[in-house]
Amino acid sequence: MQTIYQKRRQTLMSLIGEGTAIFASAPMAVMHNDVEHNFRQDSDFYYLTGFNEPGAIAVLAPHHEEHKFVLFVRPKDKEQEIWSGRRLGVDVAKETLGADEVFPINELDEKLPGYLKGGDRLYYHFGHDEALNGKIITHWRRLLASYVKRGTGPTAIEDGRLLVQGMRRIKGPEEIELIRKAVAVSVKAHNHAREIAQPGRYEYEIQAEMEYLFQLAGGGTAYPSIVASGDNACILHYVENNRQMQAGDLLLIDAGGSIDYYNADITRTFPVAGKFSEEQRIIYELVLDAQLKAIAEVKPGNPFNAFHDAAVRTITEGLVELGLLTGDIDTLIEEKKHKAFFMHGTGHFLGLDVHDTGVLRNPDKTWKPFEVGNVVTVEPGIYITPDYEPEEGQPQVDERWRGIGVRIEDDVLVTDLGQEVLTAGVPKSLADMES
Ligand code: GLY
Ligand code: MN
Ligand code: MN
Repeated sequence: MQTIYQKRRQTLMSLIGEGTAIFASAPMAVMHNDVEHNFRQDSDFYYLTGFNEPGAIAVLAPHHEEHKFVLFVRPKDKEQEIWSGRRLGVDVAKETLGADEVFPINELDEKLPGYLKGGDRLYYHFGHDEALNGKIITHWRRLLASYVKRGTGPTAIEDGRLLVQGMRRIKGPEEIELIRKAVAVSVKAHNHAREIAQPGRYEYEIQAEMEYLFQLAGGGTAYPSIVASGDNACILHYVENNRQMQAGDLLLIDAGGSIDYYNADITRTFPVAGKFSEEQRIIYELVLDAQLKAIAEVKPGNPFNAFHDAAVRTITEGLVELGLLTGDIDTLIEEKKHKAFFMHGTGHFLGLDVHDTGVLRNPDKTWKPFEVGNVVTVEPGIYITPDYEPEEGQPQVDERWRGIGVRIEDDVLVTDLGQEVLTAGVPKSLADMES
């Protein structure tokens, strides 16, 4: 496994040329009233090191004679480890993490300038750790002050995260395998949810049984699970999950598992009592049609906006046909009138982060194309809030449509042939949703 991280570091070093890059691990777990909440490693740091501890700094210095990859880690500390868990420590880190040199983190200030002064620029992401941000600026200013005498050193700071994000857009085989694992457990959980959901049960019961399966597989939840019945489906980030489900409700479940920090992100919407109302069925079919058309646009070479455009066009046409929007289709699309019912994007990259990184546009503002190895979600939806108020010039919406919320979300891998729907194991046809 270490060879994968080493390969990634080599790729990154070829991108930074004569520069020096600094990546920080996530800070310690947050303490609330003396109770420690879960630690979650920084995704870029993990991608480059596979090291899962807080309080660490990775330095890549390709220009350095011997030490091209240096780690600063928390030293072994018997007493601390009794309280807050095992640490690799300097020696084992050096044996196992492929670093040319490892120092205790308290030597950062002393050792870091030695790795910066030979590089022509510094790659660093100014994150939430203000103390570290301050340190980096202080070191940089000191080196700048002596640059005149020395003639070497970093004269600029660039955001190192952008480079790693560029790499993370294209998933390697080992990453796709982990996404498939997260998908497998999520597929199982969604299929289970459809079996147990019924009128009288509470949303949190469904949530609990799904999250149990994530944990049972050695994983966790990729993001706060949304189990939204009835009107709640119209709240995009509904997480209370405390309503008792009724016959006649739709149930929107947006939940995904996470394995070794890689995520799945799946949404399904189905009738709790097994049968769509006429209006629910019509909206469901429209969202499904939009989703299938959007998925077809996810293929190598297509610009990134193509799938959103397809979803927007299908939904706009459908809403006009149903009388929920009125006007010329192209004008409605241009004026983004669909946003009254479909107010979010059609998808995002997926990987180590649920909303995974990746610049979407070129400097000239054109959209970057999909590339083989991208993984994206495709998740159009229509939400008709109970208190919907039309914009001026748009029709009032009949009571029978109100409170319907539908989203369908799959995870899609871009392949040579076009695309593979990784989450195809959760059915979504109308008939399957009613069975
Ligand atoms: N569950 C978050 C999202 O769908 O983007
Ligand atoms: Mn989702
Ligand atoms: Mn999503």
